[in-house]
Amino acid sequence: MSSPALTNDLFESEIEIYRKFLPIVSPVEGANPKTNTWDVPYTIGELSYLVHSHYRYYGKFPSVVPGQLLDQFPPPSKEHYVLDNFCGSGTTLVEAKLRGIKSFGVDISWLSCLVSNVKSNAVDTKQVNTELNRISKEFHKIAIKYSAPEDSFVEKWFEKETSRELAALREIILNLPQSSERDFLLVAFIGIIRRVSKAFDGEVRPHINKAKKQRGVFEAFSKKVRDMCSDHDHYMRLINTRTPSKCLLGSNVELPSILNDGKCHLVISHPPYLNSFNYTPVYSLEFYWGVPFEAEYTGGQKNLHKQELTAHPASEKITDSYFSHLEQCYRETYKIQSPGGYLAIVIGDCTRNGELIPVLEKTIEIVKKIGYVPHEYNYRTTHYGLGKYAYRHRADYHGDADKKDGILIFKR
Ligand SMILES: C[S@@+](CC[C@H](N)C(=O)[O-])C[C@H]1O[C@@H](n2cnc3c(N)ncnc32)[C@H](O)[C@@H]1O
Repeated sequence: MSSPALTNDLFESEIEIYRKFLPIVSPVEGANPKTNTWDVPYTIGELSYLVHSHYRYYGKFPSVVPGQLLDQFPPPSKEHYVLDNFCGSGTTLVEAKLRGIKSFGVDISWLSCLVSNVKSNAVDTKQVNTELNRISKEFHKIAIKYSAPEDSFVEKWFEKETSRELAALREIILNLPQSSERDFLLVAFIGIIRRVSKAFDGEVRPHINKAKKQRGVFEAFSKKVRDMCSDHDHYMRLINTRTPSKCLLGSNVELPSILNDGKCHLVISHPPYLNSFNYTPVYSLEFYWGVPFEAEYTGGQKNLHKQELTAHPASEKITDSYFSHLEQCYRETYKIQSPGGYLAIVIGDCTRNGELIPVLEKTIEIVKKIGYVPHEYNYRTTHYGLGKYAYRHRADYHGDADKKDGILIFKR
């Protein structure tokens, strides 16, 4: 007979990795609507299982937040789907795929769409490795012939040698025929830009790190591709590759018509937090090297980023436009959802000059006005550590009773 400890171990090993770190949910007695706290006492490393580590996306939510929502609100049929209307790096799409749930995302940034689609869908990793070997030979042949682009932006952020190598590698990827393997390699390429630059790796908005040691571009790229392949293989063993997932390029204040089919059961929505940051400047280094790919991935649409929800700085004008954007985008989701569907908004309060802006309260007011009915409020405590890059100074999840980080759930 097995000992209790051994039985426990066996049981533990059977829990799928994506269900291992779900939030610890504790009800708040006597609250109306039903209210809970969600505790996520895990590190970023623990929550970056499978393909979640493909791309360092500043400002993503813990993978287990959409995971918990999808477990709590599973769609009633295979045709019903979840929509993430601020898709970012596709965390929701990945968690939905792991559960066999059809999903759509919408994001204003072509880079977000690329990353989301690569992460959530299958790829032939053997073919990726074959390409990598071919690229290696070509790179070592041609890199020497390239020169670094001469412009002050690139000179500020990259050593000459690094720019030269990045230019050569980019050219090789640009010349590959369009395929899911090329998309995969492009995500790896974009994924190493910050690492090979002179900027701090972990900081949200790039700043020069004078002490940073330079890394060879190809060495960083091939390691990244190999790590991604190994994580992707593990992911593909867990998913049904026929479960559809797709991130669409566009703005959430005018949802693509394909979504207007009455089958959207759950909307998961994670807008940039007010007064935190805007996305375009955060990715300036990646966008710089991505320029030649942009037209291909945007279908030639220009200036899409002008429709980005502006979240920083929280001046009065920007605060007003922030809330009016939220109103417009939840009017859109209300239009495409049928009665009985759910909307889950992951959002945080903030302070302006030390004064609280009650973002959660205001969001509830807006969403109720549209016609959604409050269903359940959850308040998150997330322990990301208290290091230099912790989220402590943004939505404060520790001890500050007034400032809340919420997952607000409404019924259509
Ligand atoms: C907080 S992030 C979402 C992160 C995501 N939950 C994840 O885990 O990766 C917000 C995203 O909203 C996108 N965004 C901003 N304005 C938008 C708009 N008008 N329409 C669609 N997406 C928008 C940004 O490009 C950014 O990727």
